[in-house]
Amino acid sequence: MTFDQWMHASLDRVETALEHYLPGTDIVPAKLHEAMRYAVLGGGKRVRPLLCHAAGELTSADARALDAASAALEMIHVYSLVHDDMPAMDDDALRRGKPTVHVQYDEATALLVGDALQSQAFVALTADNNGLSAVQQAALTRELALASGSVGMAGGQAIDLESVGRKLSRPELETMHRKKTGALLRAAVRMGALCGEAPDAAAMNALDAYSAAVGLAFQVVDDILDVTADSATLGKTAGKDAKDDKPTYVSIIGLDASRELAAQLGRDAHAALAPFGPRAARLGELADLVVNRVN
Ligand code: IPE
Ligand code: IPE
Ligand code: MG
Ligand code: MG
Ligand code: MG
Repeated sequence: MTFDQWMHASLDRVETALEHYLPGTDIVPAKLHEAMRYAVLGGGKRVRPLLCHAAGELTSADARALDAASAALEMIHVYSLVHDDMPAMDDDALRRGKPTVHVQYDEATALLVGDALQSQAFVALTADNNGLSAVQQAALTRELALASGSVGMAGGQAIDLESVGRKLSRPELETMHRKKTGALLRAAVRMGALCGEAPDAAAMNALDAYSAAVGLAFQVVDDILDVTADSATLGKTAGKDAKDDKPTYVSIIGLDASRELAAQLGRDAHAALAPFGPRAARLGELADLVVNRVN
């Protein structure tokens, strides 16, 4: 199977899993469920689910387990986007080529969509017959909770907001990026691996080194694209970081050094996969996708 074929097959599974784990609009309250589905379905690159699937292949994970884990990851990610776009945070009107949830619906609905997606992620992880044993459900729940909470994504978002208009040092910037974006990408890889036969400490360390590189690269590229891409390509408002005086890699080390850093992190990601040999080909290809993406 080529990488493209693998990716399309995985993306199909992810859409089906999200459809399965999201409450239908026939369930009360219909408007909230409609808004959750508006936010989640039919858009997004699904990078976290893809990382989860690729890591799971390394540990011979059950496909149903990967479906639950990747749906949970995407629901947390979308919740973070819905809140990130709200007026109290980045105040964005466009996401995935559509009006943001608070624009399409209203602010209270957007708050609740985020809240409910966060909870629904843990419903998916702990659902009956989702291919995960009780022990795996608990382990994945902990991974996702840690990655999305105050020591992970939400913590990184807090640093982001309190840093507006300030010039962060490079280590401070790196810490912010590793938390707000890196933590969930790292969780995607770890959760995928934990869906299968428990990896030993050395394998987990190698996967952590891989995902640390990919996670940071992801936000470095996000910062680059904010400057170099247009809104139509991005599906979100370009040029927003400079306008809002956000600390980014581009604002702190410049565009060329940011591009070089992203490329270096891509090489670091490949180096970390060396112990796995060809079995980790998908993860390597996903690292390239993250570094070379155009949206
Ligand atoms: C955007 O994430 C927000 C960041 C964490 C940088 P993505 O670039 O993964 O957004 P979608 O899911 O493809 O819309
Ligand atoms: C967002 O970072 C990270 C999240 C946790 C959502 P950004 O604010 O840079 O993401 P975009 O550029 O709006 O997608
Ligand atoms: Mg933001
Ligand atoms: Mg934003
Ligand atoms: Mg951004």
